[in-house]
Amino acid sequence: MISHILLGQTLQFTGSPFAEPVEAVTRHLRHGAVGIHDGRIVEVGDASQMRAAHPKAEVTDMGTALLLPGFVDAHAHFPQTRIIASWGKQLLDWLQTYTFPEEARFHDPAYAREVARAYLDACLAHGITSAASFCTIHPESVDALFTEAEARGMRIAAGRVMMDRNDLYPALQDSVQSAHDESAALIAKWHGRGRLTYAVTPRFSLTSTREQLEMAGALWAAHPGTLMQTHLSEQVPEIARMHELFPEAQDYLSTYETRGLIGPGAMMGHAIHLEPREIAVMRDTGTGVVHCPTSNMFIGSGLCDVAGLIAEGIPVGLATDVGGGSSFSMLHSMAAAYEVGQLRGTALHPAQLLWLATAGSAGVMRMGDKIGTLAPGYEADIIALNLSSTPIIAGRAARADDIWEALFPTIMMGDDRAVAGVWVGGKSVSRRV
Ligand code: GUN
Ligand code: ZN
Repeated sequence: MISHILLGQTLQFTGSPFAEPVEAVTRHLRHGAVGIHDGRIVEVGDASQMRAAHPKAEVTDMGTALLLPGFVDAHAHFPQTRIIASWGKQLLDWLQTYTFPEEARFHDPAYAREVARAYLDACLAHGITSAASFCTIHPESVDALFTEAEARGMRIAAGRVMMDRNDLYPALQDSVQSAHDESAALIAKWHGRGRLTYAVTPRFSLTSTREQLEMAGALWAAHPGTLMQTHLSEQVPEIARMHELFPEAQDYLSTYETRGLIGPGAMMGHAIHLEPREIAVMRDTGTGVVHCPTSNMFIGSGLCDVAGLIAEGIPVGLATDVGGGSSFSMLHSMAAAYEVGQLRGTALHPAQLLWLATAGSAGVMRMGDKIGTLAPGYEADIIALNLSSTPIIAGRAARADDIWEALFPTIMMGDDRAVAGVWVGGKSVSRRV
């Protein structure tokens, strides 16, 4: 049964455009349709055939807009919504100056709710229908985000940040015990409820003792199906500090690896300055990497070798890293990934950029069978992208010879104005006509 039909251009991936030629793994229909029932995609196919076969279905005609799975932001910090675009600092100074003082405010449930609302509404306005977000050390911050995500029906992963050593900002610190007990209580309360997933969240090795990392690994192991998110080798001075704190460590990854914090469902944000051994271990264990290109440039971290990591066989997703990242837009993140690729000598194809922002991120979040793909059986988190959202973009798209040339100007120059429609679990959230 199909109760609702969305009309527009459709673009589907049947595989990864990093593994096979783009033409072999994509299917584009100029007059396409997505048939939906009960929150799921039932069929993707030709518009007139689907309408004829389901004459009673409600029809929403998005014209020439491109129907895609909603964007999946695999690494963000919702509590940093109010400090996005903070000037002049690199990672450790940025954390100390802007981030930690703001995160300290999230003990207040009313403030946490207000920011959670603003964050999720901004996500939806930008076509992000799923995200993996860090919270703060305050359980109130997790309650706020999950409560608001549940109200919107969004598939969101999140977790209480663990940080039991903090030279940079001593006021924002927990303990092994409080991090364990509060995280365990939040897992019991939220994990698997509706579309919500808990992510065990040690911030990074600089703010956790060995004992806390050990505890995080044990907690993650004790709750199969939860995710694990942290940061890895983002900036050179960070790595130097890691070696001071863990003089016995072979490399940065080993501080996680020796405590059970790698493997499928482990999501390493940034992962820029890697040793060959770290790359080999991540490949062999299926540890995921999340590329955060606007952040990596904004905070001055470096140029992640995404193409190289994917060629090694490491699962990779894409993210805004709000608010170290400088935009809520996954289009901006794709544009930044393209520019980083150019600086590293690899021009990522528009199909590869789009795949990273959808199926790639979903895969890293171990949700690749539920979201991030426009195909029967998947959850109906769908966006309609207007490929002519500004006069300049429209003028460039008008010269396009194929869908990739038509899409690329929106990837490079588009923003939330390009998001013409958003559906979450099959329900309309917003629509621009
Ligand atoms: N490393 C540890 N914490 C953070 C954070 O909040 N943002 C970024 N970009 N890197 C981090
Ligand atoms: Zn981060």
